[in-house]
Amino acid sequence: EPTALWGGRFSSGPAEAMAALSLSTHFDWRLARYDIAGSRAHARVLHGANLLTADELTGMIEALDVLEADVVSGAFTPVLADEDVHTALERGLMDRAGKDLGGKLRAGRSRNDQIATLFRMYLRDAARFIAGGVLDVVEALLFQAQRHPDAAMPGRTHLQHAQPVLLAHHLLAHTQSLLRDVDRLRDWDKRAAVSPYGSGALAGSSLGLDPAAIAAELGFDAPAENSIDGTASRDFAAEFAFAVAMLGVNLSRIAEEVIIWTTAEFAYATLDDAWATGSSIMPQKKNPDVAELTRGKSGRLIGNLTGLLATLKAQPLAYNRDLQEDKEPVFDSVDQLKLLLPAIAGMLSTLTFHTDRLAELAPAGFTLATDIAEWLVREGVPFRVAHEAAGDCVRRAEDRGVGLADLTDAELAEVNPSLTPKVREVLTVTGSIASRDAYGGTAPQRVAEQRDRVVRRIEEY
Ligand code: ARG
Repeated sequence: EPTALWGGRFSSGPAEAMAALSLSTHFDWRLARYDIAGSRAHARVLHGANLLTADELTGMIEALDVLEADVVSGAFTPVLADEDVHTALERGLMDRAGKDLGGKLRAGRSRNDQIATLFRMYLRDAARFIAGGVLDVVEALLFQAQRHPDAAMPGRTHLQHAQPVLLAHHLLAHTQSLLRDVDRLRDWDKRAAVSPYGSGALAGSSLGLDPAAIAAELGFDAPAENSIDGTASRDFAAEFAFAVAMLGVNLSRIAEEVIIWTTAEFAYATLDDAWATGSSIMPQKKNPDVAELTRGKSGRLIGNLTGLLATLKAQPLAYNRDLQEDKEPVFDSVDQLKLLLPAIAGMLSTLTFHTDRLAELAPAGFTLATDIAEWLVREGVPFRVAHEAAGDCVRRAEDRGVGLADLTDAELAEVNPSLTPKVREVLTVTGSIASRDAYGGTAPQRVAEQRDRVVRRIEEY
């Protein structure tokens, strides 16, 4: 028996290829419990509008409860003839409530306002879940920062040695971008917390139903301001897709560093066995697959965003069936992050850093040259001259194949008379790091403050 919700004016059912194209239960079934929650709320406003008696409301809610239990247990699932999640659930309701009662629920609602509402409900839950997973990654970075409060490393720009920094400072930098991702998801939720239920197909309802009551029951802040926009707009989905694509990009930057750090050339860190894989042919291999999959999947999240934007572009108001294509890309982004986030947190928290190696490399590549220039500035030398003098020091050290600290007092004086042996106090990694003590800088005290502020922010979430 066909279960379509729209058979009346048709003399035949859909062609096989038509039905196959139309089908969406293979991806929208994940919205089933949200649809049932919406149905409960809708039944209550039907009762409020005297369109269901008290007994009918009780019977409807009972049938919906049974249906939900059957959905959860797997006893009730969609069949091929069910066009979408709404069609399947209506069939399930009819079976449980009977056709007379079950058939009353659809009054005053359309799949257009239903799907727009359910999609928002799902994404709001997903955003909270993902934000929790991101905070676990932040915790993993914090754990490593706490474990290595004094370890120095070469800070890089252009991937070249730039200035020494604390490893904790570098790790905490990643927590900042991730916390902005969490903030973005939370801020997004303010705009997503609007319920299109009651918008009907596009024009609103004539049955005296109260959209505000449904909105409140479903945990929204307000009903849609405009029923056409309520059913037609999907910028909430695109904005969500952006927020998680940005998250993917931020994660991929961490991932790329882990991949580099665990090479033989860098040897900054070693992956824990549980968070690495081997090679089927090369027995020595230990591969950073978590990081590589993070890097790879970040491309996929970007693709989901751009694909969705392309789907939305130039659609006239209000609902168009194109909009059925809005869900899979965003569901996919959610699914990928559910897999990724715990793996990244595990990989990062179990990483072993080789702090001796990091310390040894910290001054390499003349990373203390800026310290010479800034020391001269503090002695009253104009920066232009100081920069030149520090460059001269680098050239001399490079020619002799030694480090900056190995230049003799005589050589320093030759470069610039102001360059007295006192400059040696900043020609150590520790001295250099300690000197960068402005707010946000790499001095140990400043890094400890940054860490405390991140801890406090997490506690406030
Ligand atoms: N399955 C559709 C979607 O995901 C919702 C149903 C609206 N269908 C319709 N013919 N108006 O967008």
